[in-house]
Amino acid sequence: MLDFLEDLGELLGYTIIFFYSLTVLNYIVKFLNKKFKTQIRKNKSFADNYQKMMRFVVKNHRYFGFFAVFFLLVHFSVQFLTYGLSITGLIAASLMILQVILGIYGQKKKKRGKVWLMIHRSVAVLLLIAIAIHIE
Ligand code: HEM
Ligand code: HEM
Repeated sequence: MLDFLEDLGELLGYTIIFFYSLTVLNYIVKFLNKKFKTQIRKNKSFADNYQKMMRFVVKNHRYFGFFAVFFLLVHFSVQFLTYGLSITGLIAASLMILQVILGIYGQKKKKRGKVWLMIHRSVAVLLLIAIAIHIE
């Protein structure tokens, strides 16, 4: 039973990271689109597919974030029952919940502004560091 819970907890942890990665793709696909605009446009079918992929990533950004938090809650429940508290886990979790609240705030606000985007991006980086420390 304990073996099963350990494996499940680990799988849930990597599932959070999977959805976190999908949220961060929002930045990466836009960045590549800007940086390699001319190269992307050279091949029409590639450009079409890239646009489709980018739209998918941007459109579903918030749902990826919600899924990440959902699996975080399940991971937390399983790990808490198996091992008790994890300080590094709690720090990562706090940042992720803060990030989603920031996201919802930005989504609701019509004029988000540069400062909001800067904070939302910075928390994404802090979150990456916190996750790396948690799983090292
Ligand atoms: C953003 C939040 C989190 C992410 C992405 C995450 C991710 C992960 C991953 C991928 C693992 C497996 C690591 C490995 O096998 O080497 C893991 C292990 C673990 N997590 Fe989390 N976790 C998060 C939050 C939490 C929270 C809130 C707790 C609080 C109980 C927690 C407790 C644990 C524990 C106890 C382990 C096992 C540690 C060990 O094997 O040494 N995690 N986590
Ligand atoms: C783990 C959770 C999340 C992470 C790591 C994350 C990360 C990011 C990053 C790095 C950007 C910058 C993209 C760019 O430079 O254009 C961004 C943009 C944005 N995020 Fe998030 N985000 C998360 C969750 C959410 C949620 C839950 C929402 C809304 C409910 C949200 C709403 C937004 C909005 C409105 C933007 C502005 C650009 C756009 O519309 O794509 N984010 N996010």
